[in-house]
Amino acid sequence: MMNSKPKQRLLWSPQKKQCEFMSRPEDEALYGGAAGGGKSDALLAEALRQVNIPCYRAIIIRKTMPQCSELIDRSRLLYGSAFPDAVFNATKNVWTFKSGAKIYFGSMHHASDKLKYQGKQYDFIAFDELTHFTWEEYSYMFSRNRPSGLGTRCYMRATCNPGGIGHSWVKARFIDGKKPYHTYTETVTIDGVEYKKSRVFIPSTVFDNKILLKNNPNYVANLAILPENEKKALLYGDWNSFSGQAFSEFRDNPENYNSRVWTHVIAPFDIPRGWKRYRSFDFGYAKPFAVQWWAVDYDGRVYLYRQLYGCTDEPNTGVKWEPSRIAKKIKEIEREYERGLHVYGVADPSIWDESRGVDGTIINMFEREGIYFEKGDNTRLAGKMQLHYRMQFDDEGYPMMYVFSNCKQFIRTLTTLVYDKVNVEDIDSSQEDHDYDACRYFLMTNPIAPKKKIVVNGEFNPLF
Ligand SMILES: Nc1ncnc2c1ncn2[C@@H]1O[C@H](COP(=O)(O)OP(=O)(O)O)[C@@H](O)[C@H]1O
Ligand SMILES: [Mg+2]
Repeated sequence: MMNSKPKQRLLWSPQKKQCEFMSRPEDEALYGGAAGGGKSDALLAEALRQVNIPCYRAIIIRKTMPQCSELIDRSRLLYGSAFPDAVFNATKNVWTFKSGAKIYFGSMHHASDKLKYQGKQYDFIAFDELTHFTWEEYSYMFSRNRPSGLGTRCYMRATCNPGGIGHSWVKARFIDGKKPYHTYTETVTIDGVEYKKSRVFIPSTVFDNKILLKNNPNYVANLAILPENEKKALLYGDWNSFSGQAFSEFRDNPENYNSRVWTHVIAPFDIPRGWKRYRSFDFGYAKPFAVQWWAVDYDGRVYLYRQLYGCTDEPNTGVKWEPSRIAKKIKEIEREYERGLHVYGVADPSIWDESRGVDGTIINMFEREGIYFEKGDNTRLAGKMQLHYRMQFDDEGYPMMYVFSNCKQFIRTLTTLVYDKVNVEDIDSSQEDHDYDACRYFLMTNPIAPKKKIVVNGEFNPLF
């Protein structure tokens, strides 16, 4: 007898890496870090996990609504065939399942868009392409990740490639100094109550997406012909190189820390007493402040030899020190380490603004503590070009600017700056650019001319 049971077609099943990602118990998980690994598919599938619970609410967020429409199209195929009773409302961008559960699609094009989610709560929150978001946008959604009823699991998931405006904080939160697949737990206090929050990074590249490799063998070839930086980032998930990186010429080459050739980062040494010393400063309260100490050798080469960076454990979040406290700390450091040598101060010109201080201007508060600064030159593009000029290597591999390897925050933040989308010659100033700003103020005190033609953003720039 023939078997009359209709043959069931498997619509979607996770591939090995997707399985690993989807089986993780942590509160937060980041998946991917390279192109084509099956990231978006995994997020869409993960969102379905609790749709049998009537009160379940999930949201999948992309930076813009047009980008979101790619996910929506894929969801029409996946959800539409797996859940024939589910209905998609294209005006509100929400799927409603038979149980009453809902999966929303949303965007956060501008930072203020996060207010759209005020008062809403979601059991599952997913960010697709997390490096397109700022830390403020992502962390705001923590407060929206609350159970919508009894019996739901509350958690957040995200995917991304290296690069983009959020590269720096995503790298710091999930990648730097952390092992993939390893659970990291932090204690957070919300309304006086302590919670343990766990997070993990699960890497995947296109080589983990066997289905794509089979269906579209040219996909890898397309990634392989990208410019070197982009190729490393998108094909291999290299977080130290990505497209749009403003200072892609910056080299941190530990093998050459002592020989000082073909590297900008070098081993610390005692600064000779005869070298001129500078202190440059970018003020921040809710955002980090940056103090840098620079020395200039007899050839005019500059060395960042110490820094004080006012950042909490959270990226781009300031320690909220009053100016007088920063001034006292500077005084303490200089008393101990500069021992009577003169240090020329240069600072963000906005600290002279009448409107910024509470009790006089911010500069007044420093001067009251005996810490003096000259007004820095904040001409943005000229300052940026000074970094490019100084980073150029001469024929023997010596640049005009070095950074001591202990100045970790400077190295971290400088290498992750990207170009502004609108003002394409300039740095996107919504990133963690405080060390970069302080560096500009200092370099503008000793501007130099370029050694050779400068290439910016992949092309020769006729403006400079
Ligand atoms: N488990 C799976 N089953 C079938 N196709 C898959 C699966 N995972 C990924 N794919 C397909 O691989 C391609 C790339 O996946 P996608 O999730 O868009 O990658 P990413 O977001 O990492 O760039 C898509 O065409 C997707 O449909
Ligand atoms: Mg994707």
